[in-house]
Amino acid sequence: MMEVRLIILMRLDKYICQNTNLSRSAAKKAISSGQISVNFDGIKNPAFKVKMSDQVFYCDEQISTLGHRYLMLNKPSGYICSTQDEVHPSVLNLIDIDKHERLHIVGRLDVDTTGLVLITDDGQWSHRITSPKRNCQKSYQVDLAENVSADNIEVFKKGLLLNNELKPTLPAQLILQSKQKALLSIQEGRYHQVKRMFAAVGNHVEALHRISIGRITLDIQLAEGEWRYLTEDEIASMS
Ligand code: URA
Repeated sequence: MMEVRLIILMRLDKYICQNTNLSRSAAKKAISSGQISVNFDGIKNPAFKVKMSDQVFYCDEQISTLGHRYLMLNKPSGYICSTQDEVHPSVLNLIDIDKHERLHIVGRLDVDTTGLVLITDDGQWSHRITSPKRNCQKSYQVDLAENVSADNIEVFKKGLLLNNELKPTLPAQLILQSKQKALLSIQEGRYHQVKRMFAAVGNHVEALHRISIGRITLDIQLAEGEWRYLTEDEIASMS
């Protein structure tokens, strides 16, 4: 029987644009200025057809077709963690890189919550963080309206029933820092979970700031609204 193989070909400028941060016009410029080679031959024609098995180099670095992007952002208050809202801007507006519309936000913070937000275009990676089966730890710095009772440590550790829910929360770790400040680590992501946990013990969250997700900790060099790419170790810690 004759073997039929489908070879997918793509224009060189499109290939570069899909697999790097370059826009189509920047990709064309890189090609015409001799910065691109295919299988070690310099190519100056943007319409040159590339096979998926070809090795394409940009400034002597091979372009990976798995080029996912992973970022951390220090979210300011007043921004939302979804793409559309009529009142508030999305945190994605703070990410000033090409093709930021391909990125998505890993989990959500309330509009008034600040701190660590992870952003990526790798759906499998973000699923590993948000999947309820993974019990990924998230830590928050919490400012409270009332004094925190030491009894809350045990209550949160055991798990408590939130309003209108049937299943108690999973064990959470509460560390008291001062009369009205605490650190809370939870392993779920229920709606307004931290605020509702404190409401359930008669307190009220005045300010909430996420410090870490799994082993990824908010970089203290990042001012509110600033972001950076994750390191390879940070990405691998969620793999
Ligand atoms: N819990 C909350 O109540 N709000 C957040 O933004 C995150 C966790």
